[in-house]
Amino acid sequence: MTLDDLIYKPGLLAGRRYLVTGGGSGLGRVMGEALLMLGATVYICGRRAPVVEQTAQELMAAHGGKVVGLPCDIRKDEQITAMLDAIWADGGALDGLVNNAAGNFVSRTEDLSPRAFDAIANIVFRGSFMMTLDCGKRWLAEGKAASVVSILTTWVWNGSPFTVPSAMSKAGLHAMTQSLAVEWAGRGVRFNAIAPGLFPTEGMSARLNPGGGEHKTEGNPMQRNGRMPELANLAVFLLGPGSEYVNGQTIAIDGAQYQATGGNFARMSAWGDEDWRRARDNIAGQDAKDRRQRLE
Ligand code: HXC
Repeated sequence: MTLDDLIYKPGLLAGRRYLVTGGGSGLGRVMGEALLMLGATVYICGRRAPVVEQTAQELMAAHGGKVVGLPCDIRKDEQITAMLDAIWADGGALDGLVNNAAGNFVSRTEDLSPRAFDAIANIVFRGSFMMTLDCGKRWLAEGKAASVVSILTTWVWNGSPFTVPSAMSKAGLHAMTQSLAVEWAGRGVRFNAIAPGLFPTEGMSARLNPGGGEHKTEGNPMQRNGRMPELANLAVFLLGPGSEYVNGQTIAIDGAQYQATGGNFARMSAWGDEDWRRARDNIAGQDAKDRRQRLE
């Protein structure tokens, strides 16, 4: 990405500090890069230490500035607190948080074990809330203004078959966004969310399109997938100065896919046992690859 991809004046975020969870790859990396390019100090966290560290190095090599990669599993409360202690000690309060870290895979709901539900809900629902709460307590204690942006999906409005733990968890964060937007509005902490449509990334493609191949775009009224700078521009708008009166909103960025098709996985109702067996095998391959990076 270059500054020409962004619609903001250079230096817009100079002196500001942001944390992007799951910032080592995918959408989180793109949003972190945009914040960095506009002058912010950026912290990125993820479960795979080598990935967050390498991304930090690559982004600084490309754009200068300061990116810090921090290993953190947001399912572990003590890891959240230790990381935020380190960030606050490194230069003071954050100006914003992006709840981007997520886990998801397509599965028939009757095939889910309790651990499978927890694997997703403890990242998306519980982990994002605990991260928000720990930051929030610090902001309220200091009287610090801040902006929280959570990455959701359009399924918060209509649910999604075959990704039920994700749909339930993201809907919970949608409720958090609306609730805390009111509760903490008078104390300067605001909450918004983005519901992206298809912005293909490795983690998402492997688990939500496990048959492989290009993500189909024909159901999309704009007949294309999202472009990363489009997402980055929306995230910067919600996190940066000038949009303070925007509070409590979940904004879709999906080319009107949600209105046209419902934007979820209803089409998988046509899958049979063999399709689901193949999907699970393919997802297991990506999980094994990710796990190797976590153990390095
Ligand atoms: C059924 C499955 C499964 C599958 C895993 N499990 N994959 N069950 N079908 N395909 C079960 C396992 O059998 C196990 O239960 C339990 O889930 C935990 O699995 P682990 O592999 O031990 O968990 P872990 O290593 O912690 O991995 C977490 C994960 C993984 C969520 C399962 O996918 C992950 O790390 N994902 C991070 C990246 C990611 O998902 N990105 C995509 C986000 S896309 P048992 O009982 O057998 O022990 C997104 C929305 C996109 O969020 C919206 C687009 C429009």
